[in-house]
Formats: sequence, C-alpha cells, structure tokens
Amino acid sequence: MTLVHGGQLQQVALQYARPIVEWLDLSTGISPSSYPIPSIPTPVWQQLPQPSQSLVKAAKLYYATTNIVATSGSQAVIKQLPTVFKQHVAEQTTVWLPQIGYKEHERAWREQGFTIQQYTHLPTSAQLTAHCIVVVINPNNPTGELFSRNTLLALLDNIQMLKGWLILDEAFMDVVEPSQSIIAHTDNPHLLVLRSVGKFFGLAGIRLGFLSAHQQWLQALETLSSPWEVNGPAQYITEKALMDTQWQQQQLLSLTALSAALELLLMTTFDCPVAGSALFKSIRLDNAPAVYALLCQQGIYVRLCDEQNALRFGIPDQNGLAKLTKVLQLLPK
Ligand SMILES: Cc1ncc(COP(=O)(O)O)c(C=O)c1O
Repeated sequence: MTLVHGGQLQQVALQYARPIVEWLDLSTGISPSSYPIPSIPTPVWQQLPQPSQSLVKAAKLYYATTNIVATSGSQAVIKQLPTVFKQHVAEQTTVWLPQIGYKEHERAWREQGFTIQQYTHLPTSAQLTAHCIVVVINPNNPTGELFSRNTLLALLDNIQMLKGWLILDEAFMDVVEPSQSIIAHTDNPHLLVLRSVGKFFGLAGIRLGFLSAHQQWLQALETLSSPWEVNGPAQYITEKALMDTQWQQQQLLSLTALSAALELLLMTTFDCPVAGSALFKSIRLDNAPAVYALLCQQGIYVRLCDEQNALRFGIPDQNGLAKLTKVLQLLPK
C-alpha cells in the first residue's frame, strides 16, 4: 500500500497537465528555504561512509541529549522500530497511535502484526496496560497539536510504571519556541525520540534523521541496519547545519514571519481557525477536496489530509505567498 503524504508533484503535475516548473508546491511541511550546501571535500564522495563522531558531537549539542545516532531519515527508524520491538515484547502488545497524524507509524506497526489502538486524546493511565507502546507526534502533523513537556513527562511516568515505552516523533519540534522537547530524558530506556533534519533545515532530500534513545535501543537498531546506510555527503552537510547557530536563528525568524503571513491569509480567505506550526498551516473545510482541486487547477499543490476534511499548506516564500494570495482571490465565495 502506498500512502499519500504530499511531495508527489510529478504525479499531480501529470494529472493536471501542467509542467512542473509552473507549480507552487506547498504539499509538504518542509521549509521553503534550506541550509546552503557547503562545498563537500572529494574524499567524502569517494569513501564509504563511516558513522561520523563529529556529526554525533554536533547532534548532541544541537538536540541537547547524550544518546543519539544518525539514521537515513527519521522515516527509516519509523519503519524499523516495530521489528526492533518485536524482539522485546509480545505481538499482542497494544500500540497507541494518534488517529490523525503521519500514517507511516501506523503502517509500520500494523505490518509487524501489533494490536493498534487509536487515540484522539492522549490515553489516560486507566486506559494503558502493561508493556504498552504509545506513539506521540509532537507537534502533530497535520493538526499542529502540541503537548507540553510536563504532559509528556507525566505520561512517561505512567508508561514507565507499566514497563511500557513512549515513542516520540519530534520531526517538527525545531520551530517550537520555547521548546517542549523531552529529548534530554532519553537516558530513560522507556523513551525513544525521533528527530528530522528534513523539515526545519529544508534538507529532506539528503535523507538524514536521528534517533535518541537508551544505548540498548540504539544498539538493537544498529543490528538491523546494513553498513553505509547514512551517506557521507549527508553527514557532512548535516554536521555543518547543526553547528551553524547563526543560520538557525535567521531561519527561525524567517519561518516565523512567513508562517504568520500564511496564517493571516488563510484566516481572512476562509474565515476559519488556522492550526499548525511554523512549518505548515492546516484548516478544516467541509469542501476540502473541491478546494484542493481548484487550487491544483491554478498550479498550487497543497496537501489534502487523509480524512478529506482539511487542507495543509506548507509555508510559501514571499513569491509563493504573492501567487497564493492571487489564486485564493479567484476562489468562488
Ligand atoms: C511527523 C513526521 N515524522 C517523520 C517524518 C519523516 O521525515 P524524514 O524521514 O524526512 O525525517 C515525516 C515526514 O513527512 C513526518 O511528517
């Protein structure tokens, strides 16, 4: 089964018979501006990639955690975790997953035969059972729902008492100020945290992400990985990006301003609440599929959410915002 996530511009461009260059692609939560690619030394291209100690050092600093490994995107970890857990827990273990949220989590656990329980509100301690696994996407994509550190630490306490595990997907956490990340707590073996460099750094194409967890989990994941999985140029670029605090501050300011402009535009156009984060904005619309199609006809590709009742807009740059403003004015009132 192929899940639709946005980012499938080639297919959509064909469907609407419009050349790719004419599209404004707002279908993902990837920043419109990306970390500038540094000049990469030739040996980095030539040699088989080794796990880079200097990258791990940079990641420890940036993410403020002591236990962390680089992976070929956080998606790779999402896919592998159920296999890792299968070696530790019974298949009947209940996995709690958000009803709305990045669907690759659910697909991965289902594929490995786990029992799935969906939640709209975080499960209470009365609902949780021994050895349960709770997956939380914080902030959620596409709803933007954000749980506070205190809420998640209380949930972690409950889960730990039940000898279960909290798996936290913090792919969009970089833009949350002040941060609600609990990645600093991953010396607790009951907590695993995923991070992505695709979104905030705008580098989804290089396929690099991180897992922060107790050494026992990092080692278990390593035994499943094949050699040279995380490519050398990606490691080189990511290390520079994680160390460049000046660029990060600028990026945060720029995303905050652009996302506020998008929010205002959506609010005034659709006259409805706008949810999301500084990397995407979502609106609930009864006629979401029709608006999605109208936008596509004008060369604007957004994400029609799985439930067909909401649209998610990636953050446009200034030119994109001007184009979107024009097109939204054409929508029938
Ligand atoms: C919530 C969430 N987590 C993880 C990912 C995977 O991102 P990546 O593999 O690029 O790190 C995505 C991708 O869209 C996502 O939306």
